[in-house]
Amino acid sequence: MKILVIGSGGREHAIAWKLAQSPNAGAIFVAPGNGGTDGAFTNVPLALEPPFEEVLAFIEKERIGLTVIGPEKPLVDGMADVLRAKGHRVFGPGKAGARLEGSKSFAKEIMKAAGVPTAAYESFTSREKALAWLKGRPGPYVLKADGLAAGKGVIIAEDLAAAEAALDEYFVKHAFGAAGTTLVIEDFLRGYEVSILAITDGTAVKLLPASQDHKRARDNDEGPNTGGMGVYSPVPPVTEAHLDQVRDRVLLPTLAELRRRGIPYCGVLYAGLMIEGDRVNVVEFNARFGDPETECVLPLLDGDLLEIFLAATEGRLAGVDFRVEHGASCTVILASGGYPGAYQNGKEIKGLENVNDSLVFHAGTKKAGDKTLSAGGRVLAVTHKASDLGRAIQGAYADVDRIHFEGGFCRRDIGKKGLPQGAS
Ligand code: AMP
Ligand code: GLY
Repeated sequence: MKILVIGSGGREHAIAWKLAQSPNAGAIFVAPGNGGTDGAFTNVPLALEPPFEEVLAFIEKERIGLTVIGPEKPLVDGMADVLRAKGHRVFGPGKAGARLEGSKSFAKEIMKAAGVPTAAYESFTSREKALAWLKGRPGPYVLKADGLAAGKGVIIAEDLAAAEAALDEYFVKHAFGAAGTTLVIEDFLRGYEVSILAITDGTAVKLLPASQDHKRARDNDEGPNTGGMGVYSPVPPVTEAHLDQVRDRVLLPTLAELRRRGIPYCGVLYAGLMIEGDRVNVVEFNARFGDPETECVLPLLDGDLLEIFLAATEGRLAGVDFRVEHGASCTVILASGGYPGAYQNGKEIKGLENVNDSLVFHAGTKKAGDKTLSAGGRVLAVTHKASDLGRAIQGAYADVDRIHFEGGFCRRDIGKKGLPQGAS
């Protein structure tokens, strides 16, 4: 079967790599893809904006059997609905389901209706009302732009003065544009953050192993927020009891509430969680695979990803089983100097051929003749699997140190929190 993967990140490279291991996978196309998918698969420069005519025409011309949509934007824009309406098989929710990620107030409303544990919240469209509400409560305060803001729409304010300044960002300076015209304010949650990616056909769920992202740019969780600088999996303090709770109190009730509203959901439901003791709270939902979580957890999956995706699109996921490998996985992101601020592209990446036994998923790269050049903020995701987390971390950094490009940097403490002496 021919497959089309939509997106251009490390996530999409990892998805295409795992799909290619399936005995039933035919040609794999990635739109638009990157320097790592170029050659390993076939990159196609398709426009990913509504009404998605180019994507439809390509699927029809190539007789694509399955389209997998990686990023949130085309999901929120309804690409899956357009393709399904023409009878094509798609892994990824439609516009209505993707609102779980595209609108924080919608996600909160669904969680409330489904009884899913999450921080208490209120939505506002005016600065005055928001301020009056804040004045009646203790800090810290968590303020979130309602819409998609590339992970940057959240401000955590320690006290009322900081919260007031934050309100100006949303309502006076319009720092988050249309995404920030509705504001969600919620209680501050303590604990450690974990990502659970679950594959679903809208009724059954299959959980991938728990992982932990590192969102800040610099070691010890300092510096600005990024798309994610590295991941490790599994996360030692996450127990079977936590995972049961996530399945039974978070994922299944959320899907049941969507069904009650007539919203189908086939794809990944990603729960960003805060865990404290035995309590699990949802911080956010995403309607897709995480990046770089995917680069870390898919290599631990011992199963046929194409068969899993097909089962999800056909509503028979309950009957599919896969194993998760023992051991651990660690993914380190190599980023361009200056990221997440301004950075330069076009730096030649050297040493890729010296990588020992890590997987190197490309994110912001492109091919130029026989060279690979940087072409984005997050450039490469280096993943190493081993029998335990300590060895996975060591192996990942040993290979990271074999790769060089001008200005490139990484965090040096990915996975440390998961080690016995690390604080989680
Ligand atoms: P989000 O875009 O919702 O994932 O939020 C970005 C980051 O802000 C999260 O990864 C958390 O680290 C932090 N955060 C979000 N909501 C809360 C909360 N209610 N309590 C504490 N931290 C939060
Ligand atoms: N790694 C965070 C995300 O994919 O949203």
